Amino acid sequence: MSPEVFTAPLQRPAHVGLDWLEPAQTRYTSEDDAIWNDLFARQMEILPGRACSAMLHGLEKLDLGKGGVPDFGKMSEELDRLTGWSVVPVPMLIPDHVFFWHLANRRFPAGNFIRTRETFDYIQEPDVFHDVFGHVPLLTDPTFADYMQEYGRAGWKAMRYNRLKALGALYWYTVEFGLIMEHDELRIFGAGILSGPTEAIFALEAESPNRIMLNVDRVMRTDYVIDDLQPTYFVIESFDDLYRKTVERDFDRLYRDLGPSFTYANSAVIDVDNVVHKGSQEYFLRGGRGSKARPI
Ligand SMILES: [Fe+2]
Repeated sequence: MSPEVFTAPLQRPAHVGLDWLEPAQTRYTSEDDAIWNDLFARQMEILPGRACSAMLHGLEKLDLGKGGVPDFGKMSEELDRLTGWSVVPVPMLIPDHVFFWHLANRRFPAGNFIRTRETFDYIQEPDVFHDVFGHVPLLTDPTFADYMQEYGRAGWKAMRYNRLKALGALYWYTVEFGLIMEHDELRIFGAGILSGPTEAIFALEAESPNRIMLNVDRVMRTDYVIDDLQPTYFVIESFDDLYRKTVERDFDRLYRDLGPSFTYANSAVIDVDNVVHKGSQEYFLRGGRGSKARPI
């Protein structure tokens, strides 16, 4: 699939309003519910001991494993009680400014559709499993919930400075592909890792990728790949650490210092890095996904 799938369409579909929200959540078929259940069961074989505790607790608090695609209304009631967030259905990827506006108002836009058996193992456009299983459990954590709202607010500032690319890299390396230290061990909190079986193991255990402690200035200058496993993962000490390093950072100054393009390659290890593991990059040197290299 081409990278264009990650670009929201310019034209708003006729059935959605200015907020890009679907009038209602999809009525899923029994096969859709079975796909959710099979995806859920597959991830739960892998995630205990690998996912961060906030994610695993979030799954329980929201009862996401009770069977079938969760009902957004019921899930939002519980989420609202815990952290004031809700989950709202969108038809597809939505434009950046609309996405930021929803986050800034503590609404998480989730894809309304679910993948098919044919795309069971790999889907590039985020579906309801990625969005709800991967992202929503962490919204039960008060600090992470605040971080996501602040991210939405930060989006507007990045647009003013024309530095969305840098802010996108921060999202990518934290919300989608972030690792966290828990009791001196690496755990996963990024939704892109949590919602797939291969990367959940690769991100923590493979020799190939770098694992580097998060440095916001460095991450926002770092390129990333959208259609393969990551050559580098960044690690936070805690959600408080993530909040402090980003929200309390003077982004105005950072944006003025940043160039319009990335400085560092996605596999680079540089002098300022606090390195947890320097990767061999073997998987990528063998050609990555396109070459069917083993993710080692
Ligand atoms: Fe995502």
